[in-house]
Amino acid sequence: MTGTFVFGYLYRLMSDIVPDNERQRRLIDVSGVGTCLLPDEFIAFTGEIRSVIAMRADAAPYLFLDELASDKAIVLSGDYSRVDAVMRYCQRYSGRLVSDEEFGHIEERKARNSTYAAQRKRRLYRLLLAARGTGLLNVENAPDLTGFQDWFEKPVGDVPFLIPARRFQRILTDMRRARDGVRIEALGDRITILPHVYVPSDQSVPAMYAAYAGAMKGKTVLDMGTGTGVLALMAARSGASRVVATDSNPNAVENARINAALLGLANVVETRGPGNLFETVAGERFDVILFNAPWIEGEPKTLYDTANYDPGYRVIDAFMRGSGEHLSDGGVILLQYSNISERAGGGSVTRLRQTINDNGFRICETGEITRKSRVTGTWERVYLYELHKDGHCGMV
Ligand SMILES: C[S@@+](CC[C@H](N)C(=O)[O-])C[C@H]1O[C@@H](n2cnc3c(N)ncnc32)[C@H](O)[C@@H]1O
Repeated sequence: MTGTFVFGYLYRLMSDIVPDNERQRRLIDVSGVGTCLLPDEFIAFTGEIRSVIAMRADAAPYLFLDELASDKAIVLSGDYSRVDAVMRYCQRYSGRLVSDEEFGHIEERKARNSTYAAQRKRRLYRLLLAARGTGLLNVENAPDLTGFQDWFEKPVGDVPFLIPARRFQRILTDMRRARDGVRIEALGDRITILPHVYVPSDQSVPAMYAAYAGAMKGKTVLDMGTGTGVLALMAARSGASRVVATDSNPNAVENARINAALLGLANVVETRGPGNLFETVAGERFDVILFNAPWIEGEPKTLYDTANYDPGYRVIDAFMRGSGEHLSDGGVILLQYSNISERAGGGSVTRLRQTINDNGFRICETGEITRKSRVTGTWERVYLYELHKDGHCGMV
């Protein structure tokens, strides 16, 4: 077959798989590998790629940083143990991918820092691996990739594709978590996590809700944005009479259903959805409403991102507007939020307090912890607000 024919065949094959994404498709020629697809969902991380080189992973580690810092993308090859070492090295020293001078002209400190961080992230994501089917291309002793594409927003099928090493590692971790489950201390059990569902790996979040376990006994509970179902399961374990778990993400609804069955709680936890906020509970009221909300102001780039990002605070605003008519008299909302967008200049916590007030709720208690955000890598203060209607305080 001639090169043109192979390319044409590949192009046609890919057209069959992603027919409506004609404009965004990216085909990249990689020396020693051939033409590879860079899926849109990864371009969101790498930005536009202008120059790609192939490098064996046994080269001196600093060379990888130098090439990435000069805006090149690198496709790694060699033994997987070396490839893995390079990925870790670049991650550890990613601070060297951007020089201080590059954005020194931006006077405002916050703008300078965020531009710097975005550039560092983009360059780090340009460390790539080539893969096809169940294996990496030009990498020996690589892990088996069966089921790997289940973690893609849009599986690409049986064509060569490029994946940022960072996403690759993350997906391997997610696959392991799905296989082995994650132990949630506050629940005293392991739960499983499906693709594209928020991973409650930071034990501090469920731990904050655990402080309210005593208040769940005999109550009806709504777990808004249930994700894996972790909070719904905790409520059920704490003696709630009935728990409805709902989410806008279809995988989350399925995940919560599976976990409820795994933990023998399917008779108490009912999953509903997917649906936007209260859509799935029209006309119903609950004694307790739980919501660990998306709390970063910004546009989600992936389905997973919808757990973290709330564009224009639309989700939190609509939640506060709608919750009054779904709360029983004397009921309580346990709302988790963080000041992370406050730091980015969003004024999010001050704003939320005003929204709570405007919707006739009062903040009766506030638990808080400080932790490093998994998403942004910066410090954040996480709050658990106990909200009551009409100035009434005291647990149900
Ligand atoms: C921070 S995660 C919390 C997940 C889980 N409750 C936990 O604590 O691990 C936020 C969840 O809200 C869901 N979500 C985001 N927007 C939503 C909406 N408009 N309606 C319902 N659920 C939504 C996301 O899919 C995600 O599962």
